[in-house]
Amino acid sequence: MVRLRSWTLRWALLGAGTLVLLYQARTHYSRGSFQSFSYRDPLGARQPGARAMTAQAPVTPLGSRAPSATLQPFLGDLYGRDETYPNSRCPSSIRKRIASTKFSSVFLEAIPVLQWARHARLAEYRRLRSYGGAHGWQEVGWPVVRDALTRLNTSANERMFDARPGAAAGVSPCVRCAVVGNGGILNGSRAGAAIDRHDYVFRVNGALTKGLERDVGRRTSFYVFSTNTMMNSLHNYASNGFRQPPQTLETKYIFLPDHDRDYLLLRAALTHRPVDRGPDEGARPERYFGNDLRAEKFKMFHPDFIRYVRNRFLRSGILDTPQWRLYRPSTGAVMLLAALHTCDEVSAYGFITPDYQAYSDHYFDLTHKALVFYANHDLQLEMSLWQELHQSRLLTLHMRG
Ligand SMILES: *[C@@H]1O[C@H](CO)[C@@H](O)[C@H](O)[C@H]1NC(C)=O
Ligand SMILES: *[C@@H]1O[C@H](CO)[C@@H](O)[C@H](O)[C@H]1NC(C)=O
Repeated sequence: MVRLRSWTLRWALLGAGTLVLLYQARTHYSRGSFQSFSYRDPLGARQPGARAMTAQAPVTPLGSRAPSATLQPFLGDLYGRDETYPNSRCPSSIRKRIASTKFSSVFLEAIPVLQWARHARLAEYRRLRSYGGAHGWQEVGWPVVRDALTRLNTSANERMFDARPGAAAGVSPCVRCAVVGNGGILNGSRAGAAIDRHDYVFRVNGALTKGLERDVGRRTSFYVFSTNTMMNSLHNYASNGFRQPPQTLETKYIFLPDHDRDYLLLRAALTHRPVDRGPDEGARPERYFGNDLRAEKFKMFHPDFIRYVRNRFLRSGILDTPQWRLYRPSTGAVMLLAALHTCDEVSAYGFITPDYQAYSDHYFDLTHKALVFYANHDLQLEMSLWQELHQSRLLTLHMRG
């Protein structure tokens, strides 16, 4: 508990000290749109037939397009390839529409979204070791990466949607996702029934639903978290009733790995043992994920995806400062962009909107709390991105009049 508090406090202090950076970031964004890191090659100039799904094929051959010349090389704008998602049967899928929007220049069709057993290779480790935090494997030892990922060895670990409810009935070939953030805008929204009517419902961190079903719904298909954000949520929102992540039959858990803590907790879950070292030593996976700890219940975002989101969709001005290592897109932002890269249609609820000051920080707050901006994220930039994606009709952002 002491450790958690000091961790939170450290971020709070950093947040206060570098708030000014966020304003620089916002200015940077509204001026530059996406021109500063667009590609010369048109979308679609990709290697033909580069399907790499067999055991013998190269792990993730690097994308064929050269990295952006305007992005600092240490940001690593070169990614593996994963051909899991490009072939949607939905005529109006996001992927089919994105080419005619301003986002065509940043979108990579074969960006890996998830990592699993296929990626547990030394060559991949050597490549990703160059990038820190959530963006690579710099702070994670090879045995820990290997032991965690090799156990993600079922087909459910390779793709976001492995068993689609209703798909067999042939109702619609389009996968419709509701992505639910924790924003106070959901308080009093009565959006719960609409959220639950989607094929899949994504939730994040303090994903409280009990007693709030009318506004936020009851289903959770995917719970998205990093070990750090989940532990902080359990600590900070216990008094709001958040005692454990959602644990329903349909719920799958998606780790955003930003620390070796994530690989250690995943390994613990898949070996049905308590975490054996680090800040979470002794933690029992059942406490967080329930008793069904089959590999099928877990997924993990690929560091390439998080780096791609940072470099191309949420390229904060913080990256041009000495504090650049602190920054990563928020867990909710990675979740929403992952949905955008895997679903055919996306509705976003509870994400930051320009009138955020009219709402409490979270929909589950008991008394009004103002939203606090921390230096490790750039919520102003995220807010602008959601507006632009909404205006480009790539997602439907829930707003209130
Ligand atoms: C997956 O890994 C487990 C060990 O965690 C092993 O028992 C199982 O046979 C593997 N399954 C496949 C399909 O390789
Ligand atoms: C939630 O909304 C109700 C009105 O619908 C309001 O009375 C309450 O203060 C709100 N809660 C917070 C934490 O802002």
